[in-house]
Amino acid sequence: MIGSGYVGLVSGACFADFGHTVVCVDKDERKIEALLQGSIPIFEPGLDTLVANNVKAGRLSFTTELSAAVAEADAVFIAVGTPSRRGDGHADLSYVFAASQEIARSLQGYTVIVDKSTVPVGTGDEVERIIREAAPDADFAVVSNPEFLREGAAIEDFKRPDRVVIGSEDPRALQLMRDIYRPLAIGRSPLVEMGRRAAELTKYAGNAFLATKITFINEIADLCEKVGANVQDVARGIGLDKRIGSKFLHAGPGYGGSCFPKDTLALLKTAQDYEAPQRIVEAVVAVNDNRKRAMGRKVIAACGGDVRDKTICVLGLTFKPNTDDMRDSPAIAVIQTLQDAGAKIHAHDPEGTEQAKKVLENVTYCDDPYVAMEGAAALVIVTEWDQFRALDLARARDLLDAPVLVDLRNIYPRERCEELGFTYCAIGR
Ligand code: UDX
Repeated sequence: MIGSGYVGLVSGACFADFGHTVVCVDKDERKIEALLQGSIPIFEPGLDTLVANNVKAGRLSFTTELSAAVAEADAVFIAVGTPSRRGDGHADLSYVFAASQEIARSLQGYTVIVDKSTVPVGTGDEVERIIREAAPDADFAVVSNPEFLREGAAIEDFKRPDRVVIGSEDPRALQLMRDIYRPLAIGRSPLVEMGRRAAELTKYAGNAFLATKITFINEIADLCEKVGANVQDVARGIGLDKRIGSKFLHAGPGYGGSCFPKDTLALLKTAQDYEAPQRIVEAVVAVNDNRKRAMGRKVIAACGGDVRDKTICVLGLTFKPNTDDMRDSPAIAVIQTLQDAGAKIHAHDPEGTEQAKKVLENVTYCDDPYVAMEGAAALVIVTEWDQFRALDLARARDLLDAPVLVDLRNIYPRERCEELGFTYCAIGR
């Protein structure tokens, strides 16, 4: 497993748990050193135990030495980052290509090189070309095997996936991939085999579709607010149609995270290069970008149109619960919009504070949600951590300067909040 970040570590630990022998490689000596000491550099529920168990069983190990690991491997997974390239939004493939060069130098015997990183269509061809050029006699195949792991549920998603997508035209490689994923066949997760380019595009199309679904219900929520309808009723009403499906129809402050924003942009770049514009995805990206600051304005409106010198309490900073990930979190735009309007921010997040400090300045971070509420002109819930679903609202009301609750995740019933004396403001209800 080349790359011991989020995807590499989760995949490596899960493959080891299937019974395979896995070596996780990373250039970052500090990260490998920490892993060797048993410390997990990311927050993902269950991962620490899974890693510890498999290390103890001798199936999982960590190293900075790529060559020895590759030489012994039947399959080499590339799970390095593909961030948005600064300036143009294309996926930055430099880590993938650098890994390919290094892999080429160490190949021994027939080896399947599996791309798990999210890469634009045609990257598999380029990886193959790089390896062929560096090692003309090597016996290898390049396969695309995109990941569909949700942060916070990654182990579950890996072990009980809806499907596993495998893109390859090479029968030997396909057979090896079936062997690697055989433990899944016991639970009924279909292996979907296809061409390599189709597999590469499947990842982007899947994420763009999900981003579209969220953005669609978010716009319907805006309409609900105008016409006096409840978006949760509408979502249930359409979601029970099996052709639509009820998942990813929760209206909120807009999608964030490490995948949707980056992958939708990269898809648009590929679409431009191939002159096949994706106008729906273009609209999704624009609507979602606007939405995040609009949520800040919604808070200002709930405070009577002015937040200058007022304190606003923000609960939840990460882009979703059960992660410490702040990447493209709606909380960033919400807080910056409020700060631009002159507000002071008191914030609390169960896991994300350290990451939040890197992107948000002039915020008072509180260890306790109730401390964050003291003297605030509004309580704003941006991320639906379980801890925020059962707040003592009467206590909250008494701590706040004004009883204003802006629930950007629709986790509270309006009636109860209003009975307690809150001005309650939600999404599409
Ligand atoms: C996503 C994909 O689900 C996963 O398959 C892919 O491999 C990586 O990207 P992740 O980014 O971890 O996973 O989170 P996800 O649970 O999909 O949520 C993404 C964003 O959409 C979050 O900001 C979340 O709050 C938002 N969202 C999701 C909604 O606003 N409404 C919904 O109904 C669902």
